[in-house]
Amino acid sequence: MRVPLIAANWKMNKIISEARSFVEEMKSKVKDVEDKEIVICPPYTSLIAVKQAISNSNIELGAQNVFWEEKGAYTGEISVKMLKDIGCKYIILGHSERRKYFFETDGIINKKIKKVLEESVSPIFCIGETLEERERNITFDVLKRQLTIGLNEIDINNVDKVVIAYEPVWAIGTGRTATPSQAEEAHYFIRNWVKEKFSEENSKRIRIIYGGSIKPENISDLMKCENIDGGLVGGASLKIDSFVNIINY
Ligand code: PGA
Repeated sequence: MRVPLIAANWKMNKIISEARSFVEEMKSKVKDVEDKEIVICPPYTSLIAVKQAISNSNIELGAQNVFWEEKGAYTGEISVKMLKDIGCKYIILGHSERRKYFFETDGIINKKIKKVLEESVSPIFCIGETLEERERNITFDVLKRQLTIGLNEIDINNVDKVVIAYEPVWAIGTGRTATPSQAEEAHYFIRNWVKEKFSEENSKRIRIIYGGSIKPENISDLMKCENIDGGLVGGASLKIDSFVNIINY
Protein backbone atom coordinates (compact mmCIF):
# COMPACT_ATOMS: atom_id res chain seq x y z
CA MET A 1 0.00 0.00 0.00
CA ARG A 2 1.48 3.34 -1.04
CA VAL A 3 0.91 6.12 1.50
CA PRO A 4 -0.01 9.35 -0.31
CA LEU A 5 2.54 12.13 0.06
CA ILE A 6 1.59 15.80 -0.06
CA ALA A 7 4.64 18.04 -0.11
CA ALA A 8 4.86 21.83 -0.04
CA ASN A 9 7.60 23.35 -2.17
CA TRP A 10 7.84 26.88 -0.86
CA LYS A 11 10.61 27.80 -3.32
CA MET A 12 12.18 31.20 -2.45
CA ASN A 13 9.35 32.39 -0.23
CA LYS A 14 8.85 33.25 3.46
CA ILE A 15 11.27 34.65 6.00
CA ILE A 16 11.80 32.81 9.29
CA SER A 17 8.99 34.44 11.25
CA GLU A 18 6.49 33.78 8.43
CA ALA A 19 7.58 30.17 8.12
CA ARG A 20 7.29 29.60 11.86
CA SER A 21 3.86 31.13 12.28
CA PHE A 22 2.55 29.31 9.20
CA VAL A 23 3.55 25.92 10.57
CA GLU A 24 2.38 26.69 14.09
CA GLU A 25 -1.06 27.55 12.78
CA MET A 26 -1.19 24.75 10.26
CA LYS A 27 -0.18 21.90 12.51
CA SER A 28 -3.32 21.98 14.61
CA LYS A 29 -5.43 21.99 11.43
CA VAL A 30 -3.87 18.76 10.14
CA LYS A 31 -3.29 16.99 13.43
CA ASP A 32 -5.88 14.30 12.71
CA VAL A 33 -4.50 13.40 9.28
CA GLU A 34 -3.14 9.87 9.58
CA ASP A 35 -3.53 8.41 6.14
CA LYS A 36 -1.12 10.73 4.32
CA GLU A 37 2.40 11.98 4.75
CA ILE A 38 2.74 15.76 4.92
CA VAL A 39 6.06 17.42 4.11
CA ILE A 40 7.12 21.06 4.10
CA CYS A 41 10.18 22.11 2.11
CA PRO A 42 11.03 25.69 3.16
CA PRO A 43 14.10 27.65 2.06
CA TYR A 44 17.32 26.67 3.87
CA THR A 45 17.13 29.70 6.16
CA SER A 46 13.84 28.52 7.67
CA LEU A 47 14.66 24.82 8.03
CA ILE A 48 15.51 25.01 11.73
CA ALA A 49 12.52 27.18 12.59
CA VAL A 50 10.17 24.80 10.76
CA LYS A 51 11.83 21.78 12.35
CA GLN A 52 11.22 23.25 15.80
CA ALA A 53 7.66 24.21 14.97
CA ILE A 54 6.74 20.72 13.68
CA SER A 55 8.02 18.83 16.71
CA ASN A 56 5.31 16.50 18.04
CA SER A 57 3.29 16.88 14.87
CA ASN A 58 2.58 14.74 11.82
CA ILE A 59 4.46 17.13 9.51
CA GLU A 60 7.89 16.24 8.14
CA LEU A 61 10.73 18.39 6.92
CA GLY A 62 12.26 18.51 3.45
CA ALA A 63 14.80 20.66 1.61
CA GLN A 64 14.70 22.04 -1.91
CA ASN A 65 18.20 21.18 -3.11
CA VAL A 66 21.59 19.86 -1.99
CA PHE A 67 25.17 19.46 -3.23
CA TRP A 68 26.59 15.98 -3.87
CA GLU A 69 29.94 16.41 -2.09
CA GLU A 70 30.23 15.63 1.59
CA LYS A 71 32.25 18.64 2.74
CA GLY A 72 35.03 20.99 1.70
CA ALA A 73 35.72 24.08 -0.34
CA TYR A 74 32.36 24.53 -2.06
CA THR A 75 31.36 28.08 -1.21
CA GLY A 76 27.63 28.51 -0.89
CA GLU A 77 26.75 24.83 -0.94
CA ILE A 78 25.03 22.56 1.61
CA SER A 79 25.66 18.84 2.09
CA VAL A 80 23.25 15.99 2.69
CA LYS A 81 24.76 15.43 6.15
CA MET A 82 23.93 19.03 7.07
CA LEU A 83 20.33 18.61 5.96
CA LYS A 84 20.04 15.29 7.73
CA ASP A 85 21.44 16.91 10.85
CA ILE A 86 18.62 19.46 10.78
CA GLY A 87 16.09 16.67 10.36
CA CYS A 88 15.27 16.63 6.65
CA LYS A 89 13.62 13.39 5.57
CA TYR A 90 13.20 14.47 1.96
CA ILE A 91 15.17 16.55 -0.54
CA ILE A 92 13.68 17.83 -3.79
CA LEU A 93 16.08 17.19 -6.68
CA GLY A 94 16.02 18.00 -10.35
CA HIS A 95 13.25 20.57 -10.14
CA SER A 96 12.71 22.22 -13.52
CA GLU A 97 13.63 25.61 -12.05
CA ARG A 98 17.01 24.18 -11.04
CA ARG A 99 17.42 22.66 -14.48
CA LYS A 100 16.49 25.95 -16.17
CA TYR A 101 18.11 28.65 -14.04
CA PHE A 102 21.04 26.73 -12.57
CA PHE A 103 21.82 24.48 -15.53
CA GLU A 104 21.42 21.22 -13.65
CA THR A 105 21.76 18.31 -16.03
CA ASP A 106 20.44 14.77 -15.71
CA GLY A 107 24.01 13.71 -14.81
CA ILE A 108 24.29 16.25 -11.99
CA ILE A 109 20.90 15.18 -10.66
CA ASN A 110 22.03 11.55 -10.71
CA LYS A 111 25.06 12.41 -8.56
CA LYS A 112 22.81 14.17 -6.07
CA ILE A 113 20.29 11.31 -5.95
CA LYS A 114 23.08 8.82 -5.25
CA LYS A 115 24.49 10.91 -2.42
CA VAL A 116 21.08 11.50 -0.86
CA LEU A 117 20.30 7.77 -0.90
CA GLU A 118 23.72 6.97 0.57
CA GLU A 119 22.66 9.03 3.60
CA SER A 120 19.27 7.28 3.77
CA VAL A 121 17.33 10.43 2.94
CA SER A 122 14.57 10.28 0.31
CA PRO A 123 14.97 12.24 -2.91
CA ILE A 124 11.87 13.77 -4.45
CA PHE A 125 13.13 13.43 -7.99
CA CYS A 126 11.39 15.80 -10.42
CA ILE A 127 11.00 15.06 -14.09
CA GLY A 128 8.76 16.47 -16.78
CA GLU A 129 8.58 17.77 -20.32
CA THR A 130 8.37 21.36 -21.55
CA LEU A 131 5.44 22.58 -23.63
CA GLU A 132 7.57 22.49 -26.74
CA GLU A 133 8.51 18.87 -26.04
CA ARG A 134 4.87 17.93 -25.50
CA GLU A 135 3.86 19.63 -28.72
CA ARG A 136 6.61 17.80 -30.57
CA ASN A 137 5.22 14.54 -29.19
CA ILE A 138 8.42 13.59 -27.42
CA THR A 139 7.09 13.62 -23.84
CA PHE A 140 7.84 9.95 -23.23
CA ASP A 141 11.31 10.17 -24.78
CA VAL A 142 12.10 13.04 -22.43
CA LEU A 143 10.76 11.20 -19.37
CA LYS A 144 12.69 8.08 -20.35
CA ARG A 145 15.93 10.05 -20.71
CA GLN A 146 15.44 11.84 -17.38
CA LEU A 147 14.66 8.54 -15.63
CA THR A 148 17.44 6.54 -17.28
CA ILE A 149 20.19 9.04 -16.47
CA GLY A 150 18.73 10.27 -13.17
CA LEU A 151 18.36 6.77 -11.75
CA ASN A 152 21.51 5.33 -13.33
CA GLU A 153 23.38 2.96 -10.98
CA ILE A 154 20.75 3.21 -8.26
CA ASP A 155 20.61 0.02 -6.22
CA ILE A 156 17.41 -1.97 -6.59
CA ASN A 157 17.16 -2.11 -2.78
CA ASN A 158 17.19 1.66 -2.59
CA VAL A 159 14.96 2.70 -5.42
CA ASP A 160 11.74 2.53 -3.38
CA LYS A 161 13.07 5.37 -1.21
CA VAL A 162 12.93 7.65 -4.22
CA VAL A 163 9.72 9.60 -4.75
CA ILE A 164 9.33 10.51 -8.41
CA ALA A 165 7.51 13.79 -9.05
CA TYR A 166 6.04 14.14 -12.51
CA GLU A 167 5.92 17.88 -13.09
CA PRO A 168 5.16 18.94 -16.65
CA VAL A 169 7.06 22.21 -16.98
CA TRP A 170 4.14 23.87 -18.79
CA ALA A 171 1.97 23.32 -15.71
CA ILE A 172 4.33 24.75 -13.10
CA GLY A 173 3.22 28.12 -11.78
CA THR A 174 1.09 28.70 -14.87
CA GLY A 175 -2.33 27.88 -13.48
CA ARG A 176 -2.59 25.28 -16.22
CA THR A 177 -2.84 21.82 -14.63
CA ALA A 178 -2.40 18.59 -16.54
CA THR A 179 -5.76 16.88 -16.86
CA PRO A 180 -6.09 13.77 -14.73
CA SER A 181 -5.82 11.63 -17.86
CA GLN A 182 -2.69 13.43 -19.10
CA ALA A 183 -1.11 13.03 -15.68
CA GLU A 184 -2.20 9.41 -15.28
CA GLU A 185 -0.79 8.54 -18.69
CA ALA A 186 2.62 9.89 -17.68
CA HIS A 187 2.50 8.25 -14.25
CA TYR A 188 1.60 4.91 -15.82
CA PHE A 189 4.53 5.28 -18.20
CA ILE A 190 6.89 6.05 -15.29
CA ARG A 191 5.67 3.10 -13.21
CA ASN A 192 6.08 0.81 -16.15
CA TRP A 193 9.61 2.11 -16.70
CA VAL A 194 10.42 1.31 -13.05
CA LYS A 195 8.99 -2.18 -13.55
CA GLU A 196 11.19 -2.82 -16.58
CA LYS A 197 14.34 -1.28 -15.17
CA PHE A 198 14.01 -2.60 -11.60
CA SER A 199 11.18 -5.02 -10.81
CA GLU A 200 7.43 -5.36 -10.57
CA GLU A 201 7.66 -5.17 -6.78
CA ASN A 202 9.59 -1.90 -6.97
CA SER A 203 7.07 -0.49 -9.40
CA LYS A 204 4.26 -1.29 -6.97
CA ARG A 205 6.02 0.27 -4.01
CA ILE A 206 7.54 3.43 -5.49
CA ARG A 207 5.54 6.62 -5.07
CA ILE A 208 4.95 8.82 -8.08
CA ILE A 209 3.48 12.21 -7.24
CA TYR A 210 2.17 14.94 -9.52
CA GLY A 211 3.16 18.61 -9.48
CA GLY A 212 2.06 21.62 -11.50
CA SER A 213 -0.65 24.10 -10.48
CA ILE A 214 -2.25 21.80 -7.92
CA LYS A 215 -5.13 23.59 -6.20
CA PRO A 216 -7.84 22.57 -3.74
CA GLU A 217 -10.20 22.40 -6.76
CA ASN A 218 -8.22 19.90 -8.81
CA ILE A 219 -6.44 17.66 -6.30
CA SER A 220 -9.24 15.18 -5.70
CA ASP A 221 -9.67 14.30 -9.38
CA LEU A 222 -5.92 13.85 -9.73
CA MET A 223 -5.81 11.64 -6.63
CA LYS A 224 -8.51 9.36 -8.04
CA CYS A 225 -6.03 8.17 -10.66
CA GLU A 226 -4.57 4.78 -9.95
CA ASN A 227 -0.94 5.78 -10.42
CA ILE A 228 -0.94 9.19 -8.71
CA ASP A 229 0.33 8.91 -5.15
CA GLY A 230 0.32 12.50 -4.02
CA GLY A 231 1.34 16.00 -4.97
CA LEU A 232 4.19 18.47 -4.93
CA VAL A 233 2.53 21.82 -4.37
CA GLY A 234 4.13 25.20 -5.08
CA GLY A 235 1.99 28.34 -5.15
CA ALA A 236 -1.01 26.80 -3.38
CA SER A 237 1.15 25.67 -0.44
CA LEU A 238 1.96 29.26 0.52
CA LYS A 239 -1.48 29.89 2.04
CA ILE A 240 -2.54 27.82 5.02
CA ASP A 241 -6.14 27.30 3.99
CA SER A 242 -5.41 26.23 0.46
CA PHE A 243 -2.64 23.86 1.55
CA VAL A 244 -4.82 22.35 4.29
CA ASN A 245 -7.67 21.91 1.81
CA ILE A 246 -5.30 20.14 -0.57
CA ILE A 247 -4.16 17.81 2.23
CA ASN A 248 -7.80 17.05 3.03
CA TYR A 249 -8.74 16.48 -0.63
P1 PGA B 1 3.11 25.16 -8.65
O1 PGA B 1 4.59 24.58 -8.45
O2 PGA B 1 2.22 24.32 -7.76
O3 PGA B 1 3.19 26.57 -8.23
O4 PGA B 1 2.77 24.98 -10.09
C1 PGA B 1 4.83 23.21 -8.33
C2 PGA B 1 6.30 22.95 -8.26
O5 PGA B 1 7.06 23.67 -8.90
O6 PGA B 1 6.75 22.02 -7.57
